[in-house]
Amino acid sequence: MTEEKSTVRTYDPPEDFAARANVRDRSIYEEAAKDFEGFWAGRARKLHWFREWDEVLRWDPPEAQWFVGGKINASYNCLDYQIEQGRGDKRAIVWEGDEPGENRTLTYSELKAEVEKFANVLKSLGVRKGDAVSIYLPMIPELPIAMLACARIGAPHSVVFGAFSAQSLRDRINDCEAKVLVTADSGPRGGKRTPLKANADEALQDAPSIEKVVVVRRTGDAVNMVEGRDLWWHELMEKAEPECPAEEMDSEDILYILYSSGSTGKPKGIVHTTGGYLTHVNTTTEWVFDLKEDDVYWCTADIGWVTGHSYIVYGPLSNGATALMFEGTPAYPANDRWWDIIERHGVTILYTAPTAIRSFMKQGTGPIEKHDLSSLRLLGSVGEPINPRAWEWYHEHVGGGRCPVVDTWWQTETGGIMISPLPGITRTKPGSATFPLPGIFAGIYDEEGNEIEGPGVGNLVIKRPWPGMLRTLYKDPERFRETYWQKYGDVYFSGDGARRDEDGYFWVTGRVDDVINVSGHRISTAEVESALVAHPAVAEAAVIGRYDEDTGQAIVAYVILEGDRKGSDELAQELRQQVRRVIGAHARPQEIVFTPDLPKTRSGKIMRRILRSLSEGRDDLGDTTTLADPSVVDSLKEQVSASR
Ligand code: WT7
Repeated sequence: MTEEKSTVRTYDPPEDFAARANVRDRSIYEEAAKDFEGFWAGRARKLHWFREWDEVLRWDPPEAQWFVGGKINASYNCLDYQIEQGRGDKRAIVWEGDEPGENRTLTYSELKAEVEKFANVLKSLGVRKGDAVSIYLPMIPELPIAMLACARIGAPHSVVFGAFSAQSLRDRINDCEAKVLVTADSGPRGGKRTPLKANADEALQDAPSIEKVVVVRRTGDAVNMVEGRDLWWHELMEKAEPECPAEEMDSEDILYILYSSGSTGKPKGIVHTTGGYLTHVNTTTEWVFDLKEDDVYWCTADIGWVTGHSYIVYGPLSNGATALMFEGTPAYPANDRWWDIIERHGVTILYTAPTAIRSFMKQGTGPIEKHDLSSLRLLGSVGEPINPRAWEWYHEHVGGGRCPVVDTWWQTETGGIMISPLPGITRTKPGSATFPLPGIFAGIYDEEGNEIEGPGVGNLVIKRPWPGMLRTLYKDPERFRETYWQKYGDVYFSGDGARRDEDGYFWVTGRVDDVINVSGHRISTAEVESALVAHPAVAEAAVIGRYDEDTGQAIVAYVILEGDRKGSDELAQELRQQVRRVIGAHARPQEIVFTPDLPKTRSGKIMRRILRSLSEGRDDLGDTTTLADPSVVDSLKEQVSASR
């Protein structure tokens, strides 16, 4: 560890940045530690409340309630309250379509008008306070419009990422029993189109809760409109009433449900409520991104993931920011697309994922040098650990050496950023997310539940409740308890491993459970396994994440075939398609290894650790004495080298 310390270069906040930063005073950490409820209450007061709360926090582990008795509306905070503060003509959303120069801008007043109309559309379709609405849309303004319309009338939204398959969409709709689905004809991305409506039709063959489907005409592709069920967005909007006052919601009413992969095959419906969540994302957007009135802020995530919920929609808009939203990919029509966007729109803050940065590194600095990126003043990273080389490259080539880099650790469950530098005061070390934010109490615990106080390695935990925390898993409080609270009692177990160095910096090392992270997308090994065994040729499958230079981890599937079936390239291809069909394209295995056997313990548990070592070509397989049949390893070694 000392060796590492001496090789790591540190970066102080640039002086001129620090002088103007939103957070300049380190005492904020102590202030928050002294009275953390009072501290968060102070932050909540920045928002608009119809009625102030009676109690800041009610903590009955693992159940937390924040701002109990308070009445608030997230849509009101993102729209009406901004207009009241004089931002009516300010741009709220700057949208760039898949084709360059295809732009749409919505001011706060325009966005509010659209949201109110769509809120009335939802009401006219029978959606009432508490009814869930599923949203399966490309990255178009109708997506945040639909979300804010739901929030306005108190209908929890459940956004499903556009790359998810029909079956994944169906599972998510059925779990939350959504009444209405909002989708589009098709979604353009990188010059290709995803047939969203066709997928939705397939999903709806077995989704009895859905009464109406609203379809946005995005591309004009032909779709099948089911009489009495399917309605065009533009037709409904033409007839919609213009005014819809925001519903006074309880602070603890559900704002949204977002499904995320866990260590079993069934996705978890992560529940976020209103007052605490909004307080958390509002505060962290202001502090971590140092948001100022004239910033053009761009988070490159898809709104289908939590990053987009918190840091394209609720965080930026509740701060009155101008948020850029991009429908396409970095490589279309050419590999300088992002830099072109930054230059044309004068982007000042960029928030993206290490996997994107690594793919740019591969191309060299050519595409960047074609553009003037001098508008940038802050860079952010999220989704997986950022390797120091990628951090340095981002800092030097994208940020021109002048922009602070904030590596932000958090999860769908945490709702908002938890561990991150504050760009005006934190000395950064490339690869480290640095310190828990003020008001956040992270720690490192060993397997037995002892806290590791000084430098050391263990499991990353959160020791006190925080406002943006998930409240439960939808309709599954038992799984909520088991997954996050069983291990350490009143302390939240994140599922990540972490190390603290001698200066107190946190280094998050990745998942310690059976969840893998491919290009910042969370995928459950069990989910991929169950997709594989659903194929008639497959008897058994074990899936692991292998270290990958580009995507962080890549999916490798070890497959035992039925009877005397023989593995082939064609079959491997078919199995990849199978996973694509069941889960979605992002979960397709990179490699499939056919094997007659799998390494198991005597109790029948697959030893994924051994498979991981094998697929990474490591010779030290660790302790193999618990294997039921140690000879399996030798035959596997042969299979792995044959599949290369
Ligand atoms: C998992 C959460 C947070 C929004 C996007 C992903 C990993 C996330 C970092 C980071 C190291 C990170 C963790 C975490 N992760 N950010 N800065 N450094 N690891 O949300 O899909 O819920 O995934 O992503 O493993 O548990 P998610």
